[in-house]
Amino acid sequence: MESRDDTGAEREAGDATPRSSTLPNGPSRDAAAGATPATPPEPASGSSGEAPSEAGPAGPAGPAESAAVAVPADSPETTRRVDTAEAARGDAAQPRHPGFDPRVGAAPPGRGGPVPADRAPVAGRFTTPGHGAGGPQGAGPNGPASYDLSSAQLLRPSKRPPQTGWRRALFLGSGGLINPGESVGDAARRELIARVNQPLHGCYKIAMLSLKGGVGKTTMTTTLGSTFASLRGDRVIAVDANPDRGTLSQKIPLETTATVRHLLRDANRVRRYSDVRAYTSQGPSRLEILASEQDPAVSEAFSEVDYRRTVTLLEHFYNVVLTDCGTGLMHSAMKGVLDVADSLLIVSSASIDGARSASATLDWLDAHGYRDLVSRSVAVINYVRRSSGNVDLDRVSDHFAARCRAVVRLPFDPHLEEGAEIELDKLASRTRAALLELAATVADDFGRAGSRVRRPMLPR
Ligand SMILES: Nc1ncnc2c1ncn2[C@@H]1O[C@H](COP(=O)(O)OP(=O)(O)O)[C@@H](O)[C@H]1O
Ligand SMILES: [Mg+2]
Repeated sequence: MESRDDTGAEREAGDATPRSSTLPNGPSRDAAAGATPATPPEPASGSSGEAPSEAGPAGPAGPAESAAVAVPADSPETTRRVDTAEAARGDAAQPRHPGFDPRVGAAPPGRGGPVPADRAPVAGRFTTPGHGAGGPQGAGPNGPASYDLSSAQLLRPSKRPPQTGWRRALFLGSGGLINPGESVGDAARRELIARVNQPLHGCYKIAMLSLKGGVGKTTMTTTLGSTFASLRGDRVIAVDANPDRGTLSQKIPLETTATVRHLLRDANRVRRYSDVRAYTSQGPSRLEILASEQDPAVSEAFSEVDYRRTVTLLEHFYNVVLTDCGTGLMHSAMKGVLDVADSLLIVSSASIDGARSASATLDWLDAHGYRDLVSRSVAVINYVRRSSGNVDLDRVSDHFAARCRAVVRLPFDPHLEEGAEIELDKLASRTRAALLELAATVADDFGRAGSRVRRPMLPR
């Protein structure tokens, strides 16, 4: 096993890997960043941009956008709505400046008349040192501070090109001459993408769990992993921890017949990312999958020790590790899964029995010392049809909302129903929108990656 330094460098090198521009909701990331001038990144709360900051996923505009929306999940929704509304008005296109101080507030009285959003004055909202009274460090005798030449100062604010609907048709039809600006939906989607791209230090591990089989754990592992992989610049891998012939490897085109068992056998020879890549398959979204042993007799032996060794190896090379768990909570690898996870996705179907099983999963976790994990987990109600019969899904959502960090509904989707390889492009737009929301919700917890106290293995 190589040192952390080596592996850290390795991961950075991989972060420069060219990224697919496939987005679940159509626009490429660059397009999503729009014509916003490059802005100096604002530090997100408690972090300062490692992998995603430069060659990372967000590109130059990413971290600033992330910072703008990187609010804790439990922040009042109003915060986000305000941001979205701002973005819709075009305020989001205003350059963010290192000297920006939200406490300074709006322009002084008398200057607050209706001004086109893209022409709104920036003076008065900034505390630029050296300009105006009270600047703590002036420009000094040698002239203005160096960031007076920043692109935020020099580039005229411009509206982002619209991404969808009649606005985009008009923009394209006029050869770019008429730009009606983004729609509220486009702005909201851009905000979600920025949340998905939140800086992540270290490796975030999330496991899909449910007591019941067939509720969509494997489907969620693949679709959520693909969403992260297609939007973020860092590496994302899904591991099949199913004890009984997991189906995760059937969700993307296979590139290798190697399994987790082979990787563990050769673990001592794995030094670089390219070494570990020989054991994984990569889908069109860039999501990699590490398959489980397909012989049921052998796979039964995938133990807690095996799982811990696998994750310890993978966390040197990947930023997000998703684990597709088998049905039930008592199988061999499960204790390892629960001990190393940063959070869980509790998967429920949109039915009474599905919801009861998911709730029983939470009860079991509470009773076995994983209360901290329950409060950090996200509940997903899967297979939501337009008409869910007599099941009151709002009450089901309320139930999980009281126990978990957040609840997201994933619609029934004909492409997912096929049970074959999953391509994000083939999903219905509302499914992609739900996945984007789910990925953003999960990413809101990235700042706490690795913060759980890892439990040691119990002596056997
Ligand atoms: N949102 C969905 N829409 C339509 N079908 C779905 C959806 N989620 C899962 N399925 C179907 O349910 C089957 C079982 O899902 P799967 O993810 O394998 O469940 P689990 O891993 O929990 O056993 C899949 O093969 C797929 O056909
Ligand atoms: Mg499964």
